[in-house]
Formats: sequence, structure tokens, C-alpha cells
Amino acid sequence: MAVWWGLSRLWETCTFRVRYVLGEALFPFGTEQVKLGAMTNKTWLFSSFFNSLVVFSASSWQMSVPPVLRNRTRVLKEARVRAIVRPGVLDITKDKLMVAHGLLALACARHTQNSVPITSMAKPISIEVYNPNGKYRVVSTKSMPGTRWINLLIEQDCRVEICTQKKTILSVEDIIALIGDKCDGVIGQLTEDWGETLFAALSRAGGKAFSNMAVGYNNVDVNAANKHGVAVGNTPGVLTETTAELAASLSLAAARRIVEADQFMRAGLYDGWLPHLFVGNLLKGQTVGVIGAGRIGSAYARMMTTSYGEFLKANGEQPVTWKRAASMDEVLREADVISLHPILDKTTYHLINKESLATMKKEAILVNCSRGPVVDEVALVEHLKQNPMFRVGLDVFEDEPYMKPGLADMKNAVVVPHIASASKWTREGMATLAALNVLGKIKGYPVWGDPNRVAPFLNENAPPPAASPSIVNAKALGLPVSKL
Ligand code: DGY
Repeated sequence: MAVWWGLSRLWETCTFRVRYVLGEALFPFGTEQVKLGAMTNKTWLFSSFFNSLVVFSASSWQMSVPPVLRNRTRVLKEARVRAIVRPGVLDITKDKLMVAHGLLALACARHTQNSVPITSMAKPISIEVYNPNGKYRVVSTKSMPGTRWINLLIEQDCRVEICTQKKTILSVEDIIALIGDKCDGVIGQLTEDWGETLFAALSRAGGKAFSNMAVGYNNVDVNAANKHGVAVGNTPGVLTETTAELAASLSLAAARRIVEADQFMRAGLYDGWLPHLFVGNLLKGQTVGVIGAGRIGSAYARMMTTSYGEFLKANGEQPVTWKRAASMDEVLREADVISLHPILDKTTYHLINKESLATMKKEAILVNCSRGPVVDEVALVEHLKQNPMFRVGLDVFEDEPYMKPGLADMKNAVVVPHIASASKWTREGMATLAALNVLGKIKGYPVWGDPNRVAPFLNENAPPPAASPSIVNAKALGLPVSKL
């Protein structure tokens, strides 16, 4: 490890010098050349330089890197915009230019993680290690709730390494650095891009197991995993009720304008009851529509209708009825509240768009706890602007973690940061299932027969079954299925 640090530092020192030179070469030519340089996409050095240029041009000699500079596209976008709006930066004298480059180099040194990364440049990543002498090396790209998952791995002779890097979304290069030369399995997150590069790296390191800590795996290229013989796990069976509960909460919060009203109270604006104050929608007798009536969608329908239905029946009122709609259009036209629960693939991308929004009732409520790109968010913002009585409850976003411009200003939108599965029981269960997916493959266990019936894996008073709870490419890899 020490050698690696040493080499890495040395290497960085060299790269700063190159950046410095490049900076000097490009700087006087102004924005256009900067843009062209970026477009050539020739080297990571260019982008690193622009990143620093942003720092310099934006801060009038003070070194502060905007924390938003996370990925390459953003870095380039920011660099262009800032360089254009601050042309004065190009007018500085030679002396100042030299000082600028000094500062520039310093900024590079301090903020290398914002550079467009290449493998050999990856910085050492901070980790926490459990059971250092374990035979199998299992890496988790994030700390996960609970400790049972760690104990289960340790008990089976795994050395567990948990990334503790203070960075919400790890890049492919960060994860390559984590995988290293020898790695038996990785537990990853839905924010990570698990494609050809990572599966190739994992396979080179001898790894044959990966699990998302999520039921959705649209961030995973399963074909690439198949190509490298890597099993891909996910975590169904523990998210159903928790996710449905959040969808129901968002439906009610949107209907009764709870967030708006809360903000109003906190702002000290409440000065007495008024007949028009925060008038919302009554859900009694209304139609609830579910698009994607799988496990979570069905649980949502049950919550929204059965419990309320029982209440209605007990009061001698009309019971709730339900039907399977002939088409999505019928749901869009008839429902007062619609909750989206499909998986994201190319058939559901922008399933809700300008046209489908126009088909919905003007005062309808739309809830999305599935994946952001199922909704065309730009069209949604426009629709919310044009129809102030239309309301939306969103847990997920098209460019997560960002919102499309204008969404945050819409009072008729309730927005929460992808927390549908965020109950303690569910998140600990997800961590356990993800760890057991990886462990099962490492140990050569078969795959569990029914990935939704996972209770035996969650029982803390008994050892878990010798199986991987859910491997999505089990068939493609020809993995045996458990007889248990
Ligand atoms: C999942 O597991 O796919 C969820 O989106 C996480 O909340």
C-alpha cells in the first residue's frame, strides 16, 4: 500500500506539471480553443485543466472548487459557461498569468478527483477493513445499514472492505481502484455504472460475483456481466411494502398539499383559519390508477384501496371496486391518482410524456417511485406550470441527483431524494441479501428458487440458507437452482 501511495504521489506531481504547461499553452487562446480542445476529447488532461480554469476564473484568485463539478460533462459545461461570462480573465498581464498558473497548479493538486480519470491515475480510496486475514476479498462500495451482513461474510472467511471515501457517487475509476488486483466479489449501488469496464476489471481480479444493493438494476449491463461470467444479484422481496408506503404517502401529501402547508407554517405566515387556505383533493370515492402493477404497484393499490375500503364499508358506504384497465390510456383518462411502478427499460423510457400528461385529468395526482426517466421531466415541469391544480409526488428524477430546471420552484410538486426503500428493516434486509448474493456465488451455492420469498435469509436467529437469494442472470450463466 505504501508503495502505491508513493508512486501515485509522484505520478500526480508529473501530471500537474503537464497540466501547467497545457494550461499555459491554451489559456491565452481563449474560450473557443478551450472548447475545441474539449471536443477533441483527446486526453483527460484537457478536462482536468478546464476544471481548474473554472476554479480560477470563477473565484478571482481564491481557490474554491464548486462542489457540483462531479463528472466530465458537467465540468466541461461549467467551464464553458464561466469562461464565457468572465472574459476579463483573458486580459490579465503576464505577471498575473504566472501567478494564475501557480494557483491553477495548486488547484489541480487539491482537486484531482474532479479530473476525468484514467485507471492508473486513480487515487487511493479510503476503506474500512473487517477480518483482514479472510480468504475471500469482498468489497462494498458503500457502508450499508446494520452489521449482520458484515458478520455473515466474516463468518464465511471473507475479508470485508468497505469504501469510506467521502463522495456520494463513486466513478468507474474509483471502483476500479477499489477492486484492485484481487477481488472475489463486489456489493455496489444503483448510482454506479456497472458496465463492460467494471465487469472486465472484476473478472481480471478473479471476481465472479456482483450484487446491487437494490431491486432495480438498470445501472447494470447484464450482457457485459454474462460475457465475463459474473453473477449479478439484486434484492427483491424486502422493498415491496416500504416502497408502496412511500408512494401512498406521496399521494396523500400531494393531494392535501402537506409540504406547501408545512413551509407556510414554518415561514410564520399562518395568521388564522381561512376558507380557501390550502384546499386540496378529497380522495374518497376517487379512482386510483397503477401503471406497472407488479409487486410494489399491487401493494400500493392495496394500501390505497383496501384499508380505505374497509373504513368505507364499516361506515355502511359503497365498497371499493377495482378492474384491470384495457390500456394505459384508460388509466390516464380515468384515474384521479396515478402511481408509476414499472421497471425502466427502453419500452418505459418517457412513458409519461407531454401527450400522456395531456390525457390525464387536469386535477390529477401523479406519483413516481420507480425510476426518473420513466417521466419526461421537462414536459412535466411545463405541465405543472400550465396546470396549477395538477400535482406530483416524486421520489426519483430523470438526471438524479439533479432536478430539471424549474421543478424545484413548482409548489404543486412534492419531491423527496429517492427514499422509497428507506425504512430500517428494508435497508438492513437489502444489505443482507446483497451480501448473501455475493457470498453464495463465491462459495458455489445454488440460486434460491423464489427471490421474493426471502424470509429465511432475514431470520437473525438461524443461519441463512446456503444459497444466493436472487441472481438475475442465473439462467444465462447456467447456475444451479436450490432445491430448498
Ligand atoms: C431499488 O432498490 O431499486 C430502489 O430504487 C432503492 O430505493
